[in-house]
Amino acid sequence: MIHSFTVKQEIGVGFIGAGDVSLNHTPGIKACEGANLVGLYDISPERAAARSRKYHCKRYDSAEELVNDPRIDAVEVLTPLEFHLPNVKLALEAGKHVLVEKPVGITITQIEEMKRLSNGRGLICMPGHNEIYAPDMVETQDLIKRGKFGKLSAIYLLYNIRHPEEVAKRYHGVIRETGIHKCYTLLFLAGRPKSVQAMKTIQHYKDYDQEDIFMANFEMENGALAHMEVNFAADDHSADPWSLYAKVIGTKGSARYGHNDRVVNKKASVHSHTYLDYPETIRREDAHFIDCIRGQKQPLSTLDDAVIAIKLTEGIEQSIRESRTVTF
Ligand SMILES: NC(=O)c1ccc[n+]([C@@H]2O[C@H](COP(=O)([O-])OP(=O)(O)OC[C@H]3O[C@@H](n4cnc5c(N)ncnc54)[C@H](O)[C@@H]3O)[C@@H](O)[C@H]2O)c1
Repeated sequence: MIHSFTVKQEIGVGFIGAGDVSLNHTPGIKACEGANLVGLYDISPERAAARSRKYHCKRYDSAEELVNDPRIDAVEVLTPLEFHLPNVKLALEAGKHVLVEKPVGITITQIEEMKRLSNGRGLICMPGHNEIYAPDMVETQDLIKRGKFGKLSAIYLLYNIRHPEEVAKRYHGVIRETGIHKCYTLLFLAGRPKSVQAMKTIQHYKDYDQEDIFMANFEMENGALAHMEVNFAADDHSADPWSLYAKVIGTKGSARYGHNDRVVNKKASVHSHTYLDYPETIRREDAHFIDCIRGQKQPLSTLDDAVIAIKLTEGIEQSIRESRTVTF
């Protein structure tokens, strides 16, 4: 059945999953003029009760009840990765717009199914690719496109933020968990890669057997070379730290972006400091999502980009497994 969607004055939002990342999406939605967090569902009744009290919103007894509430126009799927597709499907089939956290799906087939369902119903299904919603990233992409830096030669996308093993265990290794951020950012700034060479290791986990650091080098279709690194084993607190750091160097100029540009000296739930751009990019992404629903904007990164980003992570994994250069 094709659902027609009329944009209302106020967009009602519901969360499926109310864990750590919902702590950033809640102020994100609450800050949006004309949007309202109606309620949430979490598989843990204790978590759901505590978070609905904290966020001053309704607690639903099931995801089905949430998506079928007429006050809900849009759903944010904030569950662990393995529950993204079933919940995205549920929301789209109920005629609701969706923002789904990264990594969007486990496989390309899953993301293609989300695309088919959302396109068929004329609904937004936007990946939670928050890093590129930083104004400096958008500005840098625009400057690159307008040739202000000349021909791109080198791109560096780096991340060094220690994550305790008990936190990392909730995720799927740094390639899938945080490497995916670097993959869609690489696409956003520099286009598609032709090939990749990668390595990984474990430097601080005692039991967890997934990598806590990887590095990858890409040859880009535009001829540039790119380096990507994600490290959950260590923080970088040296001068000019590479906590989250991006640099593009072209033949006529260069640009940088870093999370250490705006820091509060307070521990965040996982990070050693409060990097203001992290919640800020999620707030901007939420605002952008609401504007997309209103028909005023298009997502900066689409499900097609999510498919390519997964292909890049698969290429990184294959290169590591087979100790060779992988061509895309
Ligand atoms: N964009 C970012 O920077 C960023 C940061 C952290 C996490 N994430 C992503 O957000 C998602 C959630 O991560 P998190 O850190 O909030 O994890 P979390 O473990 O803190 O929270 C997940 C929540 O989902 C609930 N849940 C599990 N299965 C469910 C189901 N079937 N239905 C409803 N609720 C369910 C859990 O009870 C838990 O409260 C993951 O995909 C993760 O990769 C993105």
